[in-house]
Amino acid sequence: MSNESGRIDDLSFWEAYYAEYTEPFAPSLFAKYILEHFAKQGSTLIELGCGNGRDAVFFADNGIKVTAIDQCAGEIEYLNKHLQNEFLKFYCTDFTSLSVEHRFDVVYSRFTLHSVAEEQEDEVIKWSFDCLNAGGYLCIEARGLNNELYKKGEPVADKHNTYIYEGHSRRFIDLAKMKEKLNNIGFEVVFAQEQKGFAPHNGEDETFMRLIAKNVADVPRRS
Ligand SMILES: C[S@@+](CC[C@H](N)C(=O)[O-])C[C@H]1O[C@@H](n2cnc3c(N)ncnc32)[C@H](O)[C@@H]1O
Repeated sequence: MSNESGRIDDLSFWEAYYAEYTEPFAPSLFAKYILEHFAKQGSTLIELGCGNGRDAVFFADNGIKVTAIDQCAGEIEYLNKHLQNEFLKFYCTDFTSLSVEHRFDVVYSRFTLHSVAEEQEDEVIKWSFDCLNAGGYLCIEARGLNNELYKKGEPVADKHNTYIYEGHSRRFIDLAKMKEKLNNIGFEVVFAQEQKGFAPHNGEDETFMRLIAKNVADVPRRS
């Protein structure tokens, strides 16, 4: 399940999933929360792992300029063909190896950081710090150690807290450790909670973590 670079590789699972659920469905509660509190109209946002674009479309419809990334080529082709506009562009690439070409006001990751290995997570949070404008936010929703699926399924060799269950892998994130990493990089963690109520789905209300970290670099950067 992990490739030569140590990356957890669930590409075929997600390609098959989005071949079935091609059209964006309703936006997540997390996207609504971020729009209400952290993403101002006219700001720029990059979404890491946009799936069928449900949240990317929602942000763009609300006046946010969105760059949305996913590894699923077929889905990205579909989204660019049918949904791209001046506020919304989709790209097929691996979000764990992005370079800092543009700056954003928000980096948004919903249910994607638990899809990658911890080493890749570390790259993503460093990259996020570098590509965020001063005062910008890294916004994460993911499965943490208190999630009800933790330890279900087959453990992945050499990958801490990672299990294959229902056909794909999940790495359960230690919220306290992630807060510490973000603080060490220079972020200020402005919100960190792990609880029920964040993402009820199909009658289930599992425990998920949300973490919002602000880039508090005081020197405004040029784009
Ligand atoms: C659980 S889905 C979440 C989709 C969307 N954020 C949502 O909340 O509906 C995880 C998505 O992350 C994408 N993904 C996982 N690892 C990735 C990577 N390294 N680079 C790009 N996309 C990735 C998958 O292809 C999949 O579309």
